[in-house]
Amino acid sequence: MTTLDHGKYFTSLPREYYVSPEHFKTELDQVWARQWVYVGHISQIPKRGDYFTFELANESLLLIRDEGDKVNAVHNVCRHRALRLCDKPTGSVRKRLVCPYHSWSYALDGELKTATRQTDGENFDYSDFGLYKVHVDVWKGFIFVCLADEAPKPVASMIDEKSSADMDLIGPTRLKVAHEIVYDAEANWKLLLENGVECYHCPSVHPEFCVVLNAEEMSDYYDRDMVPEVVQGLVIPVKAELDSLSMDGSFVSKKLLGEFDKGVAIPAEFGAGFMTQPGYAWGGFHPDYGMVATTIPISATRTKMLCQWFVHEDAVEGVDYDVEELIKIWDVTNIQDLAIQERQQQGLSSSRYTPGPNSIDQEPGIRASLRLYLDMIGELEDSER
Ligand SMILES: [Fe+2]
Repeated sequence: MTTLDHGKYFTSLPREYYVSPEHFKTELDQVWARQWVYVGHISQIPKRGDYFTFELANESLLLIRDEGDKVNAVHNVCRHRALRLCDKPTGSVRKRLVCPYHSWSYALDGELKTATRQTDGENFDYSDFGLYKVHVDVWKGFIFVCLADEAPKPVASMIDEKSSADMDLIGPTRLKVAHEIVYDAEANWKLLLENGVECYHCPSVHPEFCVVLNAEEMSDYYDRDMVPEVVQGLVIPVKAELDSLSMDGSFVSKKLLGEFDKGVAIPAEFGAGFMTQPGYAWGGFHPDYGMVATTIPISATRTKMLCQWFVHEDAVEGVDYDVEELIKIWDVTNIQDLAIQERQQQGLSSSRYTPGPNSIDQEPGIRASLRLYLDMIGELEDSER
């Protein structure tokens, strides 16, 4: 018997893991700060000096485009008197980041360039007061950050060859964000993770999704293809006879992605994507569009989920795609899931709740993700290894 394993069955975690601020603090330090977290796409910052911010618990991060494809990630905090440097979600700093308080200025990589009327080397060295850097890894245009001193191995090294080749087919650096929604749920972030790595609930919760999703293959995928890495490939399988993951299974953008736009034949049951865990993000791409969702922990009982819908960078709204149609299937599905997670959170706060048996063949992804989670917080018992 361990936290998860109880003889012939396994469970999720005891209730305090979903409600306690102490557990939440541990998770921020041991899980969220140590893994790769998906924050956005390179198309959001097309020019040198362009930036977007990403808020993760108490941290505000700045993602800044430098020369070429280089993306820098720094803490959005002036080293002088702590001002949040950029207070807009997106914009451009052009050549320098300038603090609006006393005009200290920083290069695009965070190096301190000018501390107003204080000469470098006189009372302190500029080199000691650059913005705090954050590890950043850009995989095929998708941007990941890690807050820890030491980053995990590169994202590319964790993703299998087939997932990587399939992603190349959709031209992942030639995308644009057609729409974004930030959902907000009164639920612990792990409820979103656990829900996301099983499709046992799909028939009862998602009637629309199940019209187009190959739910059986989705369940098999989490049984067969999940690996104990913080990033991995992912396919969200559409039924073989359909074209895309949309309300009726037809394309929702006329301008197909990547190679498919150039006439390359679409492989049978094509899908590309990636997933991060335990801090959960997932992205699924079809020949015409893709969606990436990243969960953002706010407190023990509150989570945001940023969803981005991607189309070909040259697709024209109103001509090639209609936003409402583009987002519909995922928006409907996300709202259904988050409503379930809020009700689950309400149930979890009952003193009588104890974790029940999960399905070994329908919900194995939960066990896989929670094992990784327990390992990262130092609670995976030796008998379980
Ligand atoms: Fe769901």
